[in-house]
Amino acid sequence: MHRIAVVPGSFDPITLGHLDVIERAAGIFDELHVLVVHNPGKTALLPIAQRVSLIEKAVREGGLPENIVVTSWSVGLLVDYCTDVGASVLVKGIRSQVDVAYETPMAIVNRDLAGVETVFLLPNPAHAHVSSSLVRQVASLGGDVSPYVPPVVAHYLQSPRE
Ligand code: PNS
Repeated sequence: MHRIAVVPGSFDPITLGHLDVIERAAGIFDELHVLVVHNPGKTALLPIAQRVSLIEKAVREGGLPENIVVTSWSVGLLVDYCTDVGASVLVKGIRSQVDVAYETPMAIVNRDLAGVETVFLLPNPAHAHVSSSLVRQVASLGGDVSPYVPPVVAHYLQSPRE
């Protein structure tokens, strides 16, 4: 059986914590889709297409497995994407009890809606404190984000843009 899993998220921007979860999930499943989804509850820093591009570059530069597909989804439910591509599993990284509380209702709703199960992976403790919101804040105030994000993201955030 060809098992397809999806790692969904805002990835605004992708962090080393995300990349760690993506790499380990890619080792578990036959095919792993990293899916950038707009979260209306968050104020975005980067356009969706830019997030996809940075993830693709980070995956390539990091030498991650070749069974990783990076794309985005903006129409309908996350589980609709899963159904479209034949994915039966969602993968989420869990850093803390706060993440458990945030993710649990979504996992149950996604299972109710389409029978899609959610698998939680624990992060490398070195990245347990890292979040995209922290990176956005440090970057917006001119700080060095290189300890928290792939080099391509640090370079992008620290380069002057229009
Ligand atoms: O990285 P984030 O912002 O925590 O990711 C949250 C995300 C995008 C995975 C979540 O908002 C989501 O699943 N959105 C898709 C909309 C949807 O299907 N909602 C109903 C089930 S929760």
